[in-house]
Formats: sequence, structure tokens, C-alpha cells
Amino acid sequence: MHIEQITLQRTPVGLPDASDFAFGHAELPQPEDGQVLVRVLALSLDPYLRSAMAGRHLSASIGIGDLVRGEGLVEVLASRHPAMAAGEQWVAACGWRSHALLDAAAVAQARRVPAWLDRPTLALGGLGMPGLTAWAGLNRLADARAGDTLVVSAASGPVGATVGQLAKIKGCRVIGIAGGPEKCAWVTGVAGFDACIDYRAEDLRQALDRLCPQGVDVYFDNVGGDTLLALLERLALGARVVLCGLMAQYNGAAPTAINPALLIRARATMRGLVVYDHWDALEQMLTEMKAHYLAGRLQFREDIAEGLQSAPAAFVRLMQGRNQGKALVRL
Ligand SMILES: NC(=O)c1ccc[n+]([C@@H]2O[C@H](COP(=O)([O-])OP(=O)(O)OC[C@H]3O[C@@H](n4cnc5c(N)ncnc54)[C@H](OP(=O)(O)O)[C@@H]3O)[C@@H](O)[C@H]2O)c1
Repeated sequence: MHIEQITLQRTPVGLPDASDFAFGHAELPQPEDGQVLVRVLALSLDPYLRSAMAGRHLSASIGIGDLVRGEGLVEVLASRHPAMAAGEQWVAACGWRSHALLDAAAVAQARRVPAWLDRPTLALGGLGMPGLTAWAGLNRLADARAGDTLVVSAASGPVGATVGQLAKIKGCRVIGIAGGPEKCAWVTGVAGFDACIDYRAEDLRQALDRLCPQGVDVYFDNVGGDTLLALLERLALGARVVLCGLMAQYNGAAPTAINPALLIRARATMRGLVVYDHWDALEQMLTEMKAHYLAGRLQFREDIAEGLQSAPAAFVRLMQGRNQGKALVRL
């Protein structure tokens, strides 16, 4: 079978560029016993891929000439594995290509799209891996409680928006940090946060002092860098900091130096989050989120590019922070 695919042509230096990727074709054989042939319906673009391209991620690296890895929403075309049947929709590690042959290991890691999900692409975003990241960070690491003031950065993305909305449901006072008026308007107007700081338009430290005069009980950090420093300077007694992502660092900026005195003074805890540790909670997360989603208490925003060939430019947009919601490519 003749398929389309995208490989890494050059290891990105700094911000990735669309020319770091190459569009091409490949041949796929028919599935053998234990394999499944799928058609890719949508690709999930995720920031961790930038680290994988730099050889810095926990998962395997993406080297020059390799198919770009990543998960997608797929439809089963032909199955020789008992777990999958033709016509079903799954989330699977398909890579950036039009069709994929899943082996037994990929089938074992794949997740069936829940039948109740009216928008299957949400299984790549707020009701998928980013949603589990948010749920696990909030419930297992942050110990967020009613009355807490919680701040989350990258607030309009699938992780940040889910963190904030789940925290609102718990009774927290939720402040988002996002870049630009359009993102902030969605965060407060649609996702229902109490406030959103547009750090491109307003001094972050002044805005935090205005909105969090008693300090911050929970900071869910998706970016690192100076944003993390500004929050560490404003922790309330007993604060919890969840380190989830490093958007300020992925494109090559130097790591941030942290002053431990700020944590000691606040008797704070700071914990690193890796979503892979929390797959056991997927069903619990989905059961809870289903109820909230169907009741209209969770809103998700998607930024959809059209066609496999648009994936490199869409990935660059994500790494520039120009995505408006979960970054996807529809094939
Ligand atoms: N630890 C884990 O297991 C795990 C799992 C999933 C995701 N994550 C992390 O969670 C974070 C959010 O992921 P997501 O999928 O929800 O992404 P996302 O929010 O859709 O996109 C990333 C956002 O980061 C913001 N950003 C802040 N500083 C930036 C900078 N210097 N350059 C570029 N963007 C910047 C941008 O939003 P603004 O313009 O609003 O700032 C951008 O839209 C990422 O850091 C990701 O790596 C971690």
C-alpha cells in the first residue's frame, strides 16, 4: 500500500522550522498475524516531540530520517489482532503518516475512543493524554482544595484549560496565565476561570500581586522560565507547585536557576509530573470527566490544521505558542 509520511530531515536548532521536516511516500505491506492496518484521521501535535527531536525526552529520540512519532486518532481498516476490529476508532502511536501498521506492542498501548464521545478528537486532548496529565497533576500531586488560589500557565492549552476547569469544579479560585487577548478571553469567557493574565500585555508580577494578594496556594507550571520564578516569589504558606512542562526551555533556552529559600520560606512542596506514571488512572479520569463534559462543565478548544502536509507548520506554530487550543492535524 502506498502511503504519505513525514520524516525529520534536520534536527531543529532553536525554534523548529517547517524545512526541518520532509514530506514523502512509503510502502506498507499487508498486516500479518498480530498486526493491524489503520488509517490516520487526526494527528496530535504535542510539545514533548520537540524534546524527542533534541534527544532529551524520556521516550525514544526522533533522529534524522526517522518518521516523526506521535499519537493520532485512527480508524481500523484491517485487523489480524483480536483486540481491534475493522471500523473501530482508537488512539494509537501511528506517527506522522496517512496509514500505519500497528504491531502487537502498539496495539497494547492503544486506547479505544469512548463510544459516548461526540468529538473523537477530544481523545487526543482534554479527554486523552493532556487531560490525564491535568487530572493526575491536580488530584495526585497538587492536593488542590476548595478555597485554594490556583494559578496555571499555558492556560488555554489542553493541559492548562483542563487543570483550571477541574480546579474550579473543586471550588478553587483559578487564575490563568496566557499569551494574548484571544486566549485570555476564551479562558475567562468560555472555560470560566476567575481571571486570566495576558503576560504579553501586562507585567506578570504586578498582575499576580493584584490578583493574588494572599499568595498562591497551587501553581501548576507548564512553562518554567521566568514565569516559574515569578510564581515561586509569591507562594502562600504550605503551597504546592506542580512542575509539568518547560515551554520556555524546549527551544533551547538555558534552564532557570531557582532560589530554594523561596520554597523553605513558604514550607512549600514542588513535585515533578510525568503522565506515564498515571495511566492506571485513565478509566477513573474518564468516568469523572465524562460526567462533567456531558453536563457542560468542561469546555475544550481545538486548533485544527488540514492535511498531513500542514503538520510541520502547525508544529512550528505550537512551539511558538501561537496555537489556540489543542494542536491537531486532520487528515
Ligand atoms: N509532564 C508531563 O507528563 C506532560 C504531559 C503532557 C504535557 N506536558 C506539558 O504541558 C505543557 C502544556 O502542554 P499542552 O499540550 O497543553 O500545550 P499547549 O498549552 O497547547 O501549548 C503550549 C503553550 O505554551 C505556552 N508558552 C508559554 N511560554 C512559551 C514559550 N516560551 N514558547 C512557546 N510557547 C509558550 C503557549 O501559550 P501562551 O501563549 O498562552 O503562553 C503555548 O500555546 C507543555 O509544557 C507540555 O510539554 C507535560
